[in-house]
Amino acid sequence: MRKRLIAALAALSTTASFVVTAVAATVITAAPAQALENGLARTPPMGFNNWNTTHCRAEFNEKMVMDMADIFVSRGLKDVGYQYVNIDDCWAKTQRNAQGNLEPDPVRFPRGIKFVADYVHSKGLKFGIYTSAGTKTCNTAGFPGGLNNEQRDANLFASWGVDYLKYDNCNNQGVDAKQRYTKMRDALAATGRPIVYSICEWGQNKPWEWAQNVGNLWRTTGDINDTYSKMVDIFKRNLPLAQYAKPGAWNDPDMLEVGNGGMTPTEYRSHFSLWAIMAAPLLIGSDLRKVSQENFTTLLNKDVIDVDQDRLGIQGKQISLSGNNYVISKPLSNGDYAVALFNNNSSTQTISTTASAIGIGQSSAYNLKDLWSKSTRTTTGAISASVPAHGTVMYRVSKGVRTPPAAGTHQVSDLSWDTASNGWGPVEKDRSNGERPAGDGKTLTINGTTYTKGLGVHAASEVSVYLGRACSAFSASVGIDDEVAGSNGTVVFQVFADGTKIADSGTMTGAMAAKQLSGSLANAEQLRLVVTNGGDTINYDHADWANPTITCG
Ligand code: GLA
Repeated sequence: MRKRLIAALAALSTTASFVVTAVAATVITAAPAQALENGLARTPPMGFNNWNTTHCRAEFNEKMVMDMADIFVSRGLKDVGYQYVNIDDCWAKTQRNAQGNLEPDPVRFPRGIKFVADYVHSKGLKFGIYTSAGTKTCNTAGFPGGLNNEQRDANLFASWGVDYLKYDNCNNQGVDAKQRYTKMRDALAATGRPIVYSICEWGQNKPWEWAQNVGNLWRTTGDINDTYSKMVDIFKRNLPLAQYAKPGAWNDPDMLEVGNGGMTPTEYRSHFSLWAIMAAPLLIGSDLRKVSQENFTTLLNKDVIDVDQDRLGIQGKQISLSGNNYVISKPLSNGDYAVALFNNNSSTQTISTTASAIGIGQSSAYNLKDLWSKSTRTTTGAISASVPAHGTVMYRVSKGVRTPPAAGTHQVSDLSWDTASNGWGPVEKDRSNGERPAGDGKTLTINGTTYTKGLGVHAASEVSVYLGRACSAFSASVGIDDEVAGSNGTVVFQVFADGTKIADSGTMTGAMAAKQLSGSLANAEQLRLVVTNGGDTINYDHADWANPTITCG
């Protein structure tokens, strides 16, 4: 999907106006709240931005940026996923040139921006830049902004090889935010270059409600600073916005302060854990030449990064809050769950939850891996830890000994699933997809026929069920749900018993009646129900597995 989109963008790039048409068409015909279909940021962006450590000071210059790229490679940051090396405000001259173009500050960037971008690219990394959706950027020196120069500036950035744009909100002249940010989205698309688009309007216009098809990420709050209290303040504002995040469209609680010195290593581990479980962008905001070994180790914690970068792209949700102790849970693509136990108190606390409360589903035992200490243990359900003041204990919880379904015929919607991934919203039990929070769908309906049992999914989707070689047969009726208008939507339903495909619907559209699928599950460990996008986009692909049943014993 992603490769195909990028290839399509590249193919279209020769005719800029054609690309604009294609983008506009997507907006008009797409299902509601369509993600920005530029194929980028399928997991939260990871990288570096200089702002938190340098602000506008002179040490922000070409050498610093090149040093960060070197350190990404030499100290293992690139290997764990950090990719974007981004520059923030104060890179430009205070005036546009005679042609109306932005120019780099010759003291900070004597060899120009393209030179730095080329250097970053030579390391196998990507390069990002900054401007504001206003007449000037935020710094009082008065650097020119992009308002009413959107296409000119986007073209210039693309010509320099920019891969990421942070677009700020200062000096916006009171022009409607959605209008300003959409204009730059379209200008970036028209360049034909894939550019991650970071909206920075500080949450002022509730971007989580409108920016999913405008930007790849949107700031949810005002600026972070290097204090524990500000970090927690931002965490609290970003946490309730979980339902709005998804692959390609992320809540951005601002860049990391880890390593800047204003918090303790324990507090920085909390900062990193909370950002990861909230599927936040991980943009390092410290000067990596000066970060202590302990804080460097925090930034390199691959287990925690894996939680952030999980391909399901679900932002962790608050499970409980009691006496300033938070329990947050995030489902992961292999069926595991991440749990953060965050102690926002000034003394050690015991924080407790259960496997059932975090949503992982029934099992006779669970494995807990502590993602900071790396210790592991098993539990029958209790999840509890002594957590130091301002600290966070983070676990990856996985099902231990699994039990196969009992003898008899079962509806798949009544079983606990090993994994359930979906292009939009969660996989729904006995309801259609609906696209947003759990339970927002309707009665499952295919071409006028309704079903009380089944799964409402949205391509690209995969649901897997542990069978433990105990089952013999699968059957279901499948089709696109009538909640999609007309003949819209194109999908393929596929059923796998372990690695073997046992049924395939062929391409189905919204105009077609349900098809019957069945196959043998003999000796299979696992059933997998897959819905693909049918070779086009995932737009309108609301797919129903009606009466999916397995016979066991
Ligand atoms: C705003 C943004 C910050 C930073 C500065 C630069 O405050 O929110 O992240 O980019 O501008 O001036």
